[in-house]
Amino acid sequence: MTLGSRTRIQGEPSVTKPLRKAVLPVAGLGTRFLPATKAMAKEMLPVVDKPLIQYAVEEARAAGIEQFCLVTGRGKTAIVEHFDIAFELEATLRQRGKEADLRNLRSWQMEPGAMVTVRQQEPLGLGHAIWCARAFVGDDPFAILLPDDLVLSQTPCTMQLANAYYETGGCVVAVTEVPRDQTNRYGILDIGADDGRLAEVRGLVEKPAPEDAPSNLSIIGRYVLMPQVIQHLSRMERGAGNEVQLTDAMAKMIGTVPFHGLRYEGRRFDCGDKIGFLEAQIAFALKRPDMAEAVKGFLKNYCAEL
Ligand code: G1P
Repeated sequence: MTLGSRTRIQGEPSVTKPLRKAVLPVAGLGTRFLPATKAMAKEMLPVVDKPLIQYAVEEARAAGIEQFCLVTGRGKTAIVEHFDIAFELEATLRQRGKEADLRNLRSWQMEPGAMVTVRQQEPLGLGHAIWCARAFVGDDPFAILLPDDLVLSQTPCTMQLANAYYETGGCVVAVTEVPRDQTNRYGILDIGADDGRLAEVRGLVEKPAPEDAPSNLSIIGRYVLMPQVIQHLSRMERGAGNEVQLTDAMAKMIGTVPFHGLRYEGRRFDCGDKIGFLEAQIAFALKRPDMAEAVKGFLKNYCAEL
């Protein structure tokens, strides 16, 4: 018997609705990357040669997501443009015989109508951003991907979450252990039954001080949630940092739907942080057959100078 079936809430259907929707909050100001983000969306910052937002969208698509909702804000139009067809660019590439570039652009082209945007007019927190997507979510389960969190893994992180969701039903969040002194940066789990991969969630606390943290198991920016979370968010209760916190609304669902933390396979890079972003550049470049040797070469030289 799997942990998921053991912890399934009685009366809950064991066959769950398919996961087809994802919400991607992209309204953040990106102040940690000023001046780069003064006139540019932080989600358009590239890791090697691909913007953060594209990694997130490709990861979601690999997990069977078909409908996307970007929660945007002022100054984020480049993100929407990025997923549109660029007729002039395509014509120029064709004219110049750059077929490979053209094929690459086409390979991740959005189906017409597959992506919608809603606006978060005020920065009232992650929970408020997700609530802004309430009409898109409707009565369906949905994934959330925070594009700042980049995961390098064999199986795309959202696919790992989707697989866990089909196993257990209910809510599943991707989790990783963090040093105790960093619990105040993340949503932290209080766990019950635990098989080393999936852990039953008994409680959730947003950014607790190390001495108050129930564990050092932290949520990364990947979630599969039940639509009921929207009702809890609509109360607009303020939490940590006086913001409407997604974690607090999720905590209200514990005991009403199955709820698990998944220790995903892979490495997560916090690209909202300069060091994490730099590390992601190196890690992703080292995975590229066309770049790995050159990158190793200059890294060795830098290391020799230390
Ligand atoms: C948000 C969530 C937090 C989660 C984190 C993951 O925090 O509120 O629970 O652990 O993302 O990156 P933020 O990074 O927006 O402060």
